[in-house]
Amino acid sequence: MNRIVINTADANVRISRHIYGHFSEHLGRCIYGGYLVGEDSPIPNVRGIRKDIVAALKKIKIPNLRWPGGCFADEYHWKDGIGPHNERPKMINTHWGGVTEDNSFGTHEFLDLCDQLSEPGNPRCEPVICGNLGSGTVHEMAQWVEYCNFDGTSPMAEVRKKNGREKPWNVKYWGVGNENWGCGGNMTPEFYADNYRRYATYVRKYGETAPFKIACGPNGDNYNWTRILMEKTCPMVNGIDLHHYTVPGNWEHKGSSTEFAESEWYVTMRKAYFMDELVHKHGAIMDEFDPKRTVALIVGEWGNWFDVEPGTNPGFLYQQNTLRDAVVAAVHFNIFNNYAERIRMANIAQTVNVLQSVILTEGAKMVLTPTYHAFDMYKVHHDAVKLPVYVESQNCTHFNLPAVTASASEDDNGKIHVSMTNIDPKNEQGIRLELRGVSVKPVSGWIISSENMQDRNTFETENAVKIQNFNGARTEGVGGKITVNIPPKSVVTLALA
Ligand code: AHR
Repeated sequence: MNRIVINTADANVRISRHIYGHFSEHLGRCIYGGYLVGEDSPIPNVRGIRKDIVAALKKIKIPNLRWPGGCFADEYHWKDGIGPHNERPKMINTHWGGVTEDNSFGTHEFLDLCDQLSEPGNPRCEPVICGNLGSGTVHEMAQWVEYCNFDGTSPMAEVRKKNGREKPWNVKYWGVGNENWGCGGNMTPEFYADNYRRYATYVRKYGETAPFKIACGPNGDNYNWTRILMEKTCPMVNGIDLHHYTVPGNWEHKGSSTEFAESEWYVTMRKAYFMDELVHKHGAIMDEFDPKRTVALIVGEWGNWFDVEPGTNPGFLYQQNTLRDAVVAAVHFNIFNNYAERIRMANIAQTVNVLQSVILTEGAKMVLTPTYHAFDMYKVHHDAVKLPVYVESQNCTHFNLPAVTASASEDDNGKIHVSMTNIDPKNEQGIRLELRGVSVKPVSGWIISSENMQDRNTFETENAVKIQNFNGARTEGVGGKITVNIPPKSVVTLALA
């Protein structure tokens, strides 16, 4: 029997909703042919942006959107993407398929998208703009901030007004470069940290909008990068952006998103679990320099990275999404929730039609992936108070990996949500759930599971994998003890009151 103990008295930190953030790059069919279909398209749109995508992302309460890259960010010159469309210069998207980028989606269009994604009365979908440190100038970066945020008379504010936007957008989150250890300039940590200090100095506060400055963090387990960055940039930094993808194979042969054996399922899960070690170890280094945890660890790119779908452009990174992706997403969410003291933002790569997408489109058709449903299920944890969990898990039958992961929170109405994964593809897991300090019972439950590991939603079968009601929990006597039987390869959330 597995065991999960929740000490409600130890609750002390909120799980930032920004952990459930997104990332959308100028890559493949994410922006063009994804969100953006154009005003003249027969697909219903508002100023060229698809209504169905906006509605779906609003339903999962998308808290933020990171843009324009990715590797694209350090080649992007923002002034190319403002002003009349027919006057915008074209460029080559050298990283992603060598296609022509016509800059028709730029700053105004991106911030319009974020506005459309924001539900009136709810917190805004915060734009997270990643500036160009790799090939751009300090001046260019400084002017972008002024263009977006200055309310008054200034050179950039005047250009903005001429382009039709009177008031500033007050963009809070600014990335200062992306993957500068790689595609963003192949820098050493020392060189990057010095450059970060220089660029970040000119990312100014305008009005009430104090910029939250995000430095390029480590590539996976490059702990030296974190150490040098913390040493050299504290206290000039608000967040450090770790990137880590789950790749079952190697970079040459990553593995298929849909055709995989049980052994690959396990390898994928093992690699997803590695995120726990990464945030633990990077967090420990950050603790040395920042014991009060004022600097956030951000996981600005995460998710499964498989081979592209056969017959698609290798530079477009289009992959399908199965039950395996939903379980991997939930494993990550549990890790992020459990490290909420340090992790205050994360962004899945990428929202639409690229890597571990939550939405796939084909012409007018749109399908919500299993990963989408994991985001939907976990939205109960947005800004809720984290309840520390102690998990005692059995190993999966055929692999030396714990079968169960979990996280829990209490919302402002006093409702407790416990989310659990069972990665064992064959065996149900019985769990004894003990809540210390409260007496509650399950009031509702939801599950994402399916008959086969490879099950997915397609344009023909949209709802093969979705959230269903879960009735596998029952109260045992008195005193907050609950028994849960979680089916194999599934994600479950219980609401307790
Ligand atoms: O998400 C795809 C790419 O992965 C991003 O552009 C880059 O930052 C990372 O290497």
